[in-house]
Amino acid sequence: MITIHDKTFQLYISQSEIQTAIHKLATQLEVDLKDQNPLFVAILNGAFVFAADLMRALPFDAPINFIKTQSYVGTTSSGTVQTVLGLNENIEGRTVVILEDIIDTGHTLKKLLQILTDKGAASVKVVALLQKPDALQHNDLEVDYIGIEIPNKFVVGYGLDYDGLGRGFADIYQLKEN
Ligand code: IMP
Ligand code: MG
Repeated sequence: MITIHDKTFQLYISQSEIQTAIHKLATQLEVDLKDQNPLFVAILNGAFVFAADLMRALPFDAPINFIKTQSYVGTTSSGTVQTVLGLNENIEGRTVVILEDIIDTGHTLKKLLQILTDKGAASVKVVALLQKPDALQHNDLEVDYIGIEIPNKFVVGYGLDYDGLGRGFADIYQLKEN
């Protein structure tokens, strides 16, 4: 059990389960995308740990860049997604692969797909370590690669934070209800 600010969290997904999911994703990406010379784009801040492990698990070399968005206040999605750090690279005609830590409402992803498509990407694929299917608010959103599906409960660790803290834990923890 861990405590961050005013809340208690219990161990939920172990580091070895996370690594197993990542290696599976890396293998699928090799089969599907290696020949397309894909550009990976990780979504800061949360996806930095996942992106680092996925890139090292990938059986092929590929470039990676970063976009920073912000949507969460405390433990709930604010609904408005802000891009606070953009992508300078020319992505016209490229296969772009978004790396996301977790998909919750889908607002962030929706906005990013729009941005990357507007910039001329030939195709945009989405890889998420975690998804909360019950929280999704966009039925038309297609997440191409999902590591682990989880229930609609707040989680921290492995890059995911609660008000700025908790990102350094190697395992993933779930909010403990009272
Ligand atoms: P969405 O826009 O609602 O899909 O939210 C996506 C973003 O909110 C993710 O990239 C995370 O940074 C953050 N987020 C969503 N769920 C959680 C959670 O359970 N813990 C920590 N951050 C989360
Ligand atoms: Mg995020």
